Amino acid sequence: MFWILLVQVRRKVALITGAASGLGECTAKLFAEHRAKVILVDIQDDLGRMVSEAIGSANSMFVHCDVSKEEDVKNAIDTAISTYGKFDIVFNNAGISDPLKPSIIDNEKTAFDRVIGVNVTGIFLGMKHAARVMVPVRSGTIISTATQLALLQMWVVDETMVNRAGLTH
Ligand SMILES: NC(=O)c1ccc[n+]([C@@H]2O[C@H](COP(=O)([O-])OP(=O)(O)OC[C@H]3O[C@@H](n4cnc5c(N)ncnc54)[C@H](O)[C@@H]3O)[C@@H](O)[C@H]2O)c1
Repeated sequence: MFWILLVQVRRKVALITGAASGLGECTAKLFAEHRAKVILVDIQDDLGRMVSEAIGSANSMFVHCDVSKEEDVKNAIDTAISTYGKFDIVFNNAGISDPLKPSIIDNEKTAFDRVIGVNVTGIFLGMKHAARVMVPVRSGTIISTATQLALLQMWVVDETMVNRAGLTH
């Protein structure tokens, strides 16, 4: 099944958020191995450029993008289209978490807003701007990362669980 999905990325243009490290980096490399053109976006510019260089400039490029900022997301997708002439896949992978706290009372609103900004608003913006270019051509794939933590009820509460629940439900 996974093999079939990889065959389908051939010659597709895919934008991956949070592609400078972790799962995003691995996905970018895997997609490029299967002959997709990959646009890596992240806030870690040096790391993102290194990953793009490792993949090769013929098949990838790095664009600075903070997924919580609409102008950045719009610019990244517009850059993908102006560079490769089309846009097929967005993988909304970028996500952050805050250290677990024993009680909701210990959570700060600033940290909550920061995590919501990336994990929920960032995915909304990725979906919105992908749809902006995919709907008119009636083609495209949007993939967004959630977590099983959103489905758990535990004795600790953290921003990641709450805002991923917002995405999952
Ligand atoms: N690793 C796991 O076990 C696991 C489990 C469940 C869900 N997830 C989710 O999978 C995704 C990737 O996880 P990971 O372990 O690879 O994380 P990671 O921390 O290794 O990578 C996340 C990337 O997102 C980037 N990023 C952070 N804020 C950003 C922003 N505002 N704009 C653009 N990029 C930003 C970071 O610079 C980093 O390169 C996350 O959404 C995470 O919540 C991971």
